[in-house]
Amino acid sequence: MCVKLESAFPVPQAPEWAMKIAVRRRTGQTAMAWDPATYLRFSDERLRPGFDLLARVGELPTGPLAELGCGTGVHARAIAERWPGRAFTAIDSSPEMLKQAAAMPSSIRWVEADLTSWAPPERVALVFSNAVLQWVDRHEELFPRMMDMLVPGGMLAVQMPRNFDAPSHVLMRDAARAGPWAARLKPLLRPDPVGSPETYYDRLAPLAEDGLDIWETEYLHVLSGEDAVLTWMRGTALRPLLNALEGSERADFERALAERLRRAYPRRADGHTLLPFRRIFILARAKGT
Ligand SMILES: C[S@@+](CC[C@H](N)C(=O)[O-])C[C@H]1O[C@@H](n2cnc3c(N)ncnc32)[C@H](O)[C@@H]1O
Repeated sequence: MCVKLESAFPVPQAPEWAMKIAVRRRTGQTAMAWDPATYLRFSDERLRPGFDLLARVGELPTGPLAELGCGTGVHARAIAERWPGRAFTAIDSSPEMLKQAAAMPSSIRWVEADLTSWAPPERVALVFSNAVLQWVDRHEELFPRMMDMLVPGGMLAVQMPRNFDAPSHVLMRDAARAGPWAARLKPLLRPDPVGSPETYYDRLAPLAEDGLDIWETEYLHVLSGEDAVLTWMRGTALRPLLNALEGSERADFERALAERLRRAYPRRADGHTLLPFRRIFILARAKGT
């Protein structure tokens, strides 16, 4: 199975320096800069799903570890603690996120790379990816490619938001299409790359041991502060749109969206705002030899 997959989904082996340059050259990469402080403004809510995912990863066979889209490295450090002494590479395309990840000493190898072209130098026992793959298209190629990175019995562990149809995202697209900024923002509105649980089952079942573990959880995030949903979205989904606007236009767009969000997510009597947030979790163990 592995051999067949390898020829169907070749894993490029470009040297790391070439990956680094390619990442920097990617169109829009600078415009897509991440801000660790904004992202971690709601750190408990954002990081918990990654720990919920990690809690379901069972025993691993011998081999190195990899995380795709490690962000500020919080889950990577937990992974390194759970399986100490293994070679561990954590990649991310954001130098800002990696700088924060590397600020704390550890044996983890932090690598700036684009996960769509990066491959580990040798097959790994774990590919872990939390809240990242919703930024990447063509999952029909990506998931088999990630399975092909694994040693026999190795584990793929993925969590992705599945909330493109949530009011927050519907209203974001609505506000983007409804102002003088529409011509600039419309091309940035991506179709939803995240499929249904059944889609991932069908895609992974032929490649995985029995016992594929796929589930969804809707968290009820309890947010504090003024326009809390807008603040939440500034750290993730809104970034590409806000980065495309400047000055008063950016402020006008945010105001238009804030008004919509306030109606959809009214503040409770205690001042908190509730944000229901659906996420899909996928655990697949690569077939043994
Ligand atoms: C929402 S953050 C999640 C970070 C971390 N996994 C966590 O749970 O805190 C998404 C991360 O994915 C990274 N990312 C997005 N697209 C990527 C790509 N094509 N290759 C590598 N990293 C990517 C971003 O730079 C960012 O750090």
